[in-house]
Amino acid sequence: MRFTIAIDGPAAAGKGTISKAVAQHFGFAHLDTGLLYRAVGAQMLAGVAPIEAAQTLQADALDPAKLRTADVAQAASKVAAIPEVRAALVDFQRAFASRAGGAVLDGRDIGTVICPEAEAKLFVTATPEVRATRRHLELVAGGSSTDYATVLADVKERDARDMNRADAPLRPASDAHILDTSQLSIAQAIAQAIAAITSKQKG
Ligand code: C5P
Repeated sequence: MRFTIAIDGPAAAGKGTISKAVAQHFGFAHLDTGLLYRAVGAQMLAGVAPIEAAQTLQADALDPAKLRTADVAQAASKVAAIPEVRAALVDFQRAFASRAGGAVLDGRDIGTVICPEAEAKLFVTATPEVRATRRHLELVAGGSSTDYATVLADVKERDARDMNRADAPLRPASDAHILDTSQLSIAQAIAQAIAAITSKQKG
């Protein structure tokens, strides 16, 4: 059985949490495609040319613990605007999407570019202020002393870069189900995501 679920949206909208829960619910494999761009961004910060880093990326470079920093996130959104970097990562993502047993991919361009034929597409969003509040709480819980205003500015800067790039800009696919999580608890957001996907499965 092949069934692809594409989950896109801006930074800190809840995509990661929802994608993991959806994958678990349906028993599908999950790929956080942001990690690919983060790994390339981290290599750029270490002095490797981004295109070369993307073309030679190895699975063992995708360690979330090392890649979930604010600096790496900004570097990721810079390398993600380079068409050759995006092109180098397409085949891996498409192969993952078409694996037997079903797949969930989350990112920015899964429903629009990587898997336009995905059986179910969600666009998970929330206001920049809600997203910055969530990210700020996460960072503080992790021991960071970053202030809210810095996190909000970071979120807005990354949104602008992701939405305004020429190649694969962040936008909902025309057939995506829009899930605004601004006023939802995590449990409510997951329940709504599963309901939207289940109705696609039945249809
Ligand atoms: O989702 P995450 O915050 O980890 O993504 C980091 C950056 O990688 C994003 O800001 C975006 O620029 C880029 N990205 C992308 N396309 C994807 C996933 C991530 O351009 N499919």
